[in-house]
Amino acid sequence: MVKVNENYLKLKAGYLFPEISKRVNKYTQANSGLEVIKLGIGDVTEPLPKACIDAMSKAINEMGTNNGFKGYGPEQGYGWLREKISLNDFISRGCQISAEEIFVSDGSKCDSSNILDILGDDNLIAVTDPVYPVYVDSNVMTGRTGETLKNGTYQGLSYLAINEDNNFLPEVPKNKVDIVYLCFPNNPTGATITKKELKKWVDYANENNSLILFDAAYEAFIQDKDIPHSIYEIDGAKNCAIEFRSFSKNAGFTGVRCAYTVVPKNISGQNSNGDKINLWPLWNRRQCTKFNGVSYIVQRGAEAVYSSQGKKEINSLIDFYMENAKIMQNKLRSAGFKVYGGDNAPYVWIKVPANMTSWDFFDYLLEKANVVGTPGSGFGLAGEGYFRLSAFNSRKNVINAMKQIINI
Ligand code: MLT
Repeated sequence: MVKVNENYLKLKAGYLFPEISKRVNKYTQANSGLEVIKLGIGDVTEPLPKACIDAMSKAINEMGTNNGFKGYGPEQGYGWLREKISLNDFISRGCQISAEEIFVSDGSKCDSSNILDILGDDNLIAVTDPVYPVYVDSNVMTGRTGETLKNGTYQGLSYLAINEDNNFLPEVPKNKVDIVYLCFPNNPTGATITKKELKKWVDYANENNSLILFDAAYEAFIQDKDIPHSIYEIDGAKNCAIEFRSFSKNAGFTGVRCAYTVVPKNISGQNSNGDKINLWPLWNRRQCTKFNGVSYIVQRGAEAVYSSQGKKEINSLIDFYMENAKIMQNKLRSAGFKVYGGDNAPYVWIKVPANMTSWDFFDYLLEKANVVGTPGSGFGLAGEGYFRLSAFNSRKNVINAMKQIINI
């Protein structure tokens, strides 16, 4: 009989968001199709920017002509998109990231997991706790952890707690870890990191020859001028960090699919003989073998994000969701909740009432307010006692959800 990858058997439960959907569907079916307001998964709700629609429509029409038809594109993404990304997202912020260092893909979730293909199995890995579950689960699936411990953590992973006491900022470890995942603005807590704090991580990584996997999927939501949008705003980061970026949340591409990963040319690891090995050719090789690129149509849509019309429309989408976050913060605070995040990120992170677990609070909100959120413990042990609400929804739903919570 075929052997299965037993690492999958170590996974604690189903993936968090399908698990939530399952519970919500069960509840609504048992209550005659009751309407609930979903502030759980961070999925956008507003229509695509017109600039992107126009660009994609034009690209579809082009594909229907002999001259404009395109077959396979470059696995790394079209040069014209990579140039625009380099210029607008990096050079304009003083980061010397060239188009060649940018790999266009169909999602940061997959890239943050696929990157493990080019990294050895015996690296010591650190994640924050709570954390975006994909980082942990991908390491479990690829056999980079030991068994599941009773408290739900995995043997072999280093967990860096982030909580109210450290302002949701992970402390640089005292020991050496080889790979560390950082996500800022943070999913799930909505916390941000200053340049000074991020510099500590870059220095740590350079001193210890570690690699930082920096997830900046929510950078577009940053409102404070001093908060870095990219890790490459920090001196030395090009030697130690890979960055993941996405069009999902800024341009509403969760259903369109386009993202990119930055692998600087001079970033290296080593082989078992201790020889220095450049990571860029390995990632390039991986993508050429396992990936056929993002569709031409979608890449034209992503390119339009950088047009002047696109920039305006994206800014108003961000403003819209951040206004939702403000409404949520204000209403929840006035109802007596301790609220974190939501200032530079589309997530608010609230403390659940003392006598409840995060899942108790999930059930309580679902049943009493008909509002769906995400239990903090779904993001890790240290997320217990917290609850995440997403600002991605219509204004009407956000206002009604807050009313329903306050009126419990
Ligand atoms: C979330 O809710 O955490 C996000 O939807 C995750 C993602 O973008 O995959």
